[in-house]
This record gives sequence, C-alpha cells and structure tokens, in this order.
Amino acid sequence: MPSATPDSLTITQPDDWHVHLRDGEALTVAVAHTAAQFRRAVVMPNLRPPVTTVVIAQDYAKRIQAALHSGAAFDPLMTLYLTDRLDPQEIHRAAATCQSDDGAQVVAVKLYPAGATTNSDAGVTDLRKVYPVLEVMQTLEMPLLVHGEVTSPEIDLFDREAVFIDTQLIPLRRDFPALKIVFEHITTTQAAQYVRDSGDLTAATITAHHLLFNRNAIFTGGIRPHYYCLPVLKRESHRLSLVAAATSGNPRFFLGTDSAPHATHLKEHATGCAGSYTAHAAIEMYAEVFEQADALHRLEAFASFHGPDFYGLARNTGHITIQRTAWQTPVDFAYGQARLTPLRAGEWLPWKLQ
Ligand code: DOR
Ligand code: ZN
Repeated sequence: MPSATPDSLTITQPDDWHVHLRDGEALTVAVAHTAAQFRRAVVMPNLRPPVTTVVIAQDYAKRIQAALHSGAAFDPLMTLYLTDRLDPQEIHRAAATCQSDDGAQVVAVKLYPAGATTNSDAGVTDLRKVYPVLEVMQTLEMPLLVHGEVTSPEIDLFDREAVFIDTQLIPLRRDFPALKIVFEHITTTQAAQYVRDSGDLTAATITAHHLLFNRNAIFTGGIRPHYYCLPVLKRESHRLSLVAAATSGNPRFFLGTDSAPHATHLKEHATGCAGSYTAHAAIEMYAEVFEQADALHRLEAFASFHGPDFYGLARNTGHITIQRTAWQTPVDFAYGQARLTPLRAGEWLPWKLQ
C-alpha cells in the first residue's frame, strides 16, 4: 500500500561497493562524482595493465587521492585483480594493509573469468588454478568479488549469469565454505535467489541501472549503447526480482553502482564498450527506485549499512540529504580529451543530492 513519502531524506553517508574510476585524466571526473556522493568506494582493478599487487594498488590509490578536490573526505578501498598466476603471498600483503594506517587498504580480490568483460583478458581461465590463493583468502577473511558470468561463446549472453551459478559458484562455495563472496552486479532472479538462500558469507551488489531498466532499454527507438553493460540488462521479471531483493531489508544485498566510464565515441561505436556511467547521479537513481517500490525507508540500510557490515568495516558517521527537486542531468562531461555521456543524459530526475 503506498504511503506518503517525504520531500527530503537524510541518511548516513553511503558507500559505493563497486565502482570503476579508471586512471590518468579520466580520474578527474570519475573521482569527483563518486566522492561527492560516497564516503568510500571499492575500486575495481581492471586497468591496463591490471592491478595485481598491493604496491600497484596503493600507487593507484595515491593517484585517486591526488585527483580529489582538496578537502573532500573520500577513501578508495582497493582491490586486486585475480589472475591464474597471483602469488598467495600477495593476499597476506593485502590483509596487512587493513591492519595498518600506512597507505590505502586493499580490502578484496576481484575475480573476472577471462574474457567476461572490459579488460578481463588477464582474468582467471580455470578456478582450480587459483585454489591456493582462495585458501589464503578464506583463512584471512578476505572477500572474493565475483563477476559471475560464464564466457563460453555457445552460452546465450542472457543466460551467462545463471549458468555461472550452477557450473562455477555452487562448486566454488562447496570447496570454500568459509570464503566471503560478493556476487557483483547481480542481474537475474536466479542470482537474487541464490544469494537470498545462501548463508551469512554470501552477499551481492546491485546497480542502479539494473534496478531501473530492463533489456528493452537497449533497443527502444533504436540501439542505445549507453544502456549496454555487462552483465547485460535482463527481462522485466528479473528486474522485479532485483528490486525485491534490494528493498527487502536483507543485509546481504547492498549498493554497488558498477559505474563504468567510457568515452562517448567508444560507446557510440560499431563495437561499443560495455559499461554505464551513473556516478553523477547514483544515489538519486537508487532513491527513485526505492520510492517506486514504496521502500524509501529501506534506502539507508541498503546504501550505508549493509556494505560495511558485510566487509567488517565501521559504518560512516556523516550524513547526506536528498531532496525531491526535479533537476536535469548534464548531457555529457569532459573526460580527458574526450567526452563522457552518462546514463540518462539530459533527463529530468526527481531526487537531488544537496
Ligand atoms: O559493463 C561493464 N563495464 N561491466 C563490467 O564488468 C566492466 C565494466 C567496465 O570496466 O567498463
Ligand atoms: Zn564492474
């Protein structure tokens, strides 16, 4: 039953548990947008070359901090890119960063099945090859962040997440019952059910775009490349399952934008890159979804509590306020020498971060 919703909502400052900030000149806009909304963000390691060591991750964190406007309080939480050859010792080094104030924390390891998405060619070719690394992660309680899609060309693109659960995730969980796993950017009913029915050590991030849109968005009125991301948007029944999961209050679902900038000319291209950019209006888009589901009262826990609780980090103490004020998003942003077109460019959004 619909209930009256307030015109302004103040919540504990949220964190983004999955974001792509890129590097070099691209950092300026991505870091500014993310730091304007979030106190912390888990930064994906799929740079070229990938972030495979603590030294590389902490150097990258310094470049992120240098790109920040002075005075902005923002902590990048760094991740390592899992390859077939990652040295298990590197997990000990990463865990040590979480016990020290010296340099950025390296909080997790990201699994990209080789070839699954942008800059994933150095990813894992066979999970068995990384079992020694996973053993150490399990012992040290270091979360594994999973891009959950199989890559076999014979599997239909829209089925790749569901097939991953059956063929990779269930065996992985059986072999590592105490490993912390975050199933990233889930897109299907099957993934939402899998996480819901799993124990305390399995969580999922959900993006704003997978909550707002189904796959029709990619094809409405012509092909719309800014809606193309991986895992690809699914049919409406899946979107409804994601909304139900995100607004359920279950602490194992939390906010991760997967905001993934690509230059406009590389999105609007014959082989456009996968990734949707939402960092400019992320919390506003989540608020829109939660309001549509009559669940604005659950936004704070999803955006600000469930993530740190799962990672074993302190919740933030500051607050943000969003207001019901229609505003028009920019058409694009400067992105180094190029342009960056966000999702919903030039559209009116109902909520605005103060
Ligand atoms: O759409 C996506 N873009 N999915 C990913 O997994 C990677 C990301 C990127 O880095 O562009
Ligand atoms: Zn991502």
